[in-house]
Amino acid sequence: MNPFSLMTCIITILLFLVCSLVCVAEQSELICSHQPIVALAGDDIILPCYLDPPISASSETVVWTRPGLDPKYIHVHQDGRLMHRIQNPSYFLRTRLFVDELQNGNVSMKIFRVKISDAGKYFCFLEPMLKKVSIQLTVGVVSTPIIEVVSNNSRSVVLQCESKGWYPEPEVVWLDGEGKPPLCWTYRDSQRS
Ligand SMILES: *[C@@H]1O[C@H](CO)[C@@H](O)[C@H](O)[C@H]1NC(C)=O
Ligand SMILES: *[C@@H]1O[C@H](CO)[C@@H](O)[C@H](O)[C@H]1NC(C)=O
Repeated sequence: MNPFSLMTCIITILLFLVCSLVCVAEQSELICSHQPIVALAGDDIILPCYLDPPISASSETVVWTRPGLDPKYIHVHQDGRLMHRIQNPSYFLRTRLFVDELQNGNVSMKIFRVKISDAGKYFCFLEPMLKKVSIQLTVGVVSTPIIEVVSNNSRSVVLQCESKGWYPEPEVVWLDGEGKPPLCWTYRDSQRS
C-alpha cells in the first residue's frame, strides 16, 4: 500500500468514527418524567432523567437548575464532582447524582428531606450536548386529623376536627360511623394558620 492511500484510509476511518460518535449523541434524547413528581415534605425523592437510547454521560457536565431561583444552580456535576461553590445554599448537602449510573445515561437527581419551598419546575441540562429538559416537583404537607366533642347536651353534639399545616388546602368531608355522608350535618370551618 502506498503512503498516500494509507493516509486516505486512516482519514476515512477517523471520519467514520467521529461521525458515528456525533450521530449517536444526536440521536440520544434526554428524557425526564412528564408526570410531576409528588412528594410530602420531609421525603427523599428522585427526579428521574435519562438519555435514551442510553449513552454515557460520565464525561458531561450535568447541570440541574431552577429558573427564578438565585443562585439558580441546584446541582452542577463537573469533572466527576459537585461544584459546591455555585450551589444554591438551601440545597446544601441535600442533593446527589448517581455517579455510577452516569455511564448508563442516568442523570437523575435525588433530593433529601424535601421542603415546601423545593416545589416547582427544575431543568436538567447536559452542557456539551446542549440538551435541556424540565420536570415538575409538587410538595404537599399532611397531618392526622383529631376529632373532639366540644359540647354535648340533650339537643346537639358539636364535634371539632382539627388538623394543622396542610398544603395544599385539603377538602374536608364528614362521614358517619359507617363511612357514609351523614344526612343532617355538613359543616365546614376551615382556617388558614
Ligand atoms: C437511575 O438511578 C436511580 C438510582 O439508582 C434509579 O432509582 C433509577 O431507576 C435509575 N433510572 C433509570 C432510567 O435507570
Ligand atoms: C353525649 O352525651 C350522652 C349522654 O351523656 C352520651 O350517651 C353520648 O355518647 C355523648 N355523645 C358523644 C358524641 O360523646
